Amino acid sequence: MTLVIAIDGPAGSGKGTIAKKISSFYNFNFPHLDSGILYRSVAYLCETGGEKNLDENIVLKYAQNLNLDEIDINNLRTKEIDEISSKISSYSSVRESLKSFQINFKKIHSDKKGIVVDGRDITTVIFPNADLKFYITASLKDRANRRFKELMLINPKIDKKLVIKELQKRDQRDMERSTAPLKIADDAIIIDTSDLTIEEVMVKVHREIEDIIK
Ligand code: CDP
Repeated sequence: MTLVIAIDGPAGSGKGTIAKKISSFYNFNFPHLDSGILYRSVAYLCETGGEKNLDENIVLKYAQNLNLDEIDINNLRTKEIDEISSKISSYSSVRESLKSFQINFKKIHSDKKGIVVDGRDITTVIFPNADLKFYITASLKDRANRRFKELMLINPKIDKKLVIKELQKRDQRDMERSTAPLKIADDAIIIDTSDLTIEEVMVKVHREIEDIIK
């Protein structure tokens, strides 16, 4: 049986870093899927395709024809892609299409001891029966600081106030959309990473994982 470790949380919460660390920590090498990459890749295709109106049917076509091998993931973490991915992720047809991709990820790794998947609706919609669920969060200030540092590498003149505003806008869209909003699953373990180092977070995470793989 393949263990499913599902992680959700808002932007900048640290969930991606945690997922990557879980994936490589164990000798089993749990394959990791960052579902944000799927939404960002579709957004990237819309951007490079010159789609200004982001019509749902057109976005859906990009999602249905998505081939991650054709995408350079180094282009996906810009401010523009933040915004487009956040908008298109409210389209239910697009979510449905990307859901198949995520379910398939588990199928193709059914010979592995476990998988780690992170995103916004992994614990609630994609893998509601996951063996272990985490909801990773942090204060708006800390999350914005982390995203600011990341965006500074692309544009050293980036305005911090704008980063905070855009993060809030993305949070709001993620939490208020009617399809698969970001929320805390009843059985999720909540970790607030605001005042913790990544090592401290990983101690908590590993303790929970040890419990289920025993
Ligand atoms: O890394 P960060 O948390 O900033 O974003 P991400 O996980 O790469 O996701 C980019 C955008 O895709 C988010 O703003 C969400 O709106 C959307 N997303 C989603 O709706 N559902 C997911 N499972 C993953 C991402």
